Amino acid sequence: MSPSARSKGKPIIALRNVSLEREGMRLLDSIDWEVYPGEQWAIIGQNGAGKTLLLKIVATYLWPSRGKVEVLGKEFGKIALQRLRDKISWVSSALEEELPQDQPVIDVLFTGYFSTLRLFDKPTPQIIRRAKRLLKLMGLQGREGQVFRTLSAGEKRKVLVARAIMKKPRILILDEVCAGLDPVARKDYLESVQRLVRRERDITVLFVTHHLEEIFPGITHILGLKHGRVIFSGDKETQLNTRNITSLFGEGIELRKVNHTYHLVVQ
Ligand SMILES: Nc1ncnc2c1ncn2[C@@H]1O[C@H](COP(=O)(O)OP(=O)(O)OP(=O)(O)O)[C@@H](O)[C@H]1O
Ligand SMILES: [Mg+2]
Repeated sequence: MSPSARSKGKPIIALRNVSLEREGMRLLDSIDWEVYPGEQWAIIGQNGAGKTLLLKIVATYLWPSRGKVEVLGKEFGKIALQRLRDKISWVSSALEEELPQDQPVIDVLFTGYFSTLRLFDKPTPQIIRRAKRLLKLMGLQGREGQVFRTLSAGEKRKVLVARAIMKKPRILILDEVCAGLDPVARKDYLESVQRLVRRERDITVLFVTHHLEEIFPGITHILGLKHGRVIFSGDKETQLNTRNITSLFGEGIELRKVNHTYHLVVQ
């Protein structure tokens, strides 16, 4: 272990030499990745690079074919997975399709606490207070009683993030959560996510995206994946450069940073 790694304490996520094979194909190849407390990561790469598969391993939904995985200090194979899953929340567009749309917004948040799709349990006053506080933080105060179906796409996405952190997870996985939002809704959404992450101090975000403009200022680290391999990994400021981005997306692109936002310029 390097001296700098030692000073950061124990990693929240540690993958060593992790590979995943399916039907004779190596979908993830010898992945080494460490995430430390206080870091917020973006995971980038083209379609099919292996981003979702990698995060499914972190979230304990997939078992690697080879290598060692430790999440929140627990080594896979040695612990009850359900307890670990309770500390990891996942938001994706698939979740939006699965959720019953006829529930009031506040009930959707409660289902996040109880890990169900529909509300069957009675929330305590403490849970109700937390749900209201999170809605306010997302700029959705006054929307508690609105039926989820009637929200705009941007508002729905905000509710889903608030729902995901109701149970105070340590790891929040956001897999392409901005897809389909217009630029203004996207900016507003990312600002509320950032607000939430800043307020809920113990959460580590793993933010998957194809779009560098979505890498919000609170993201501190970046992992570049291509064909199941890590192309670069580490501190955002040093790793996000034209050379690394070219290795990921190909020649003829240039990386620009304007007002804390990164842009890809295709020549
Ligand atoms: N069970 C499986 N059997 C065979 N191949 C699979 C299986 N599951 C996933 N793959 C393949 O693994 C590759 C990586 O998939 P993954 O979903 O991780 O990509 P991704 O980086 O998340 O892409 P996207 O940006 O499009 O979501 C893809 O080529 C996919 O077809
Ligand atoms: Mg994916």
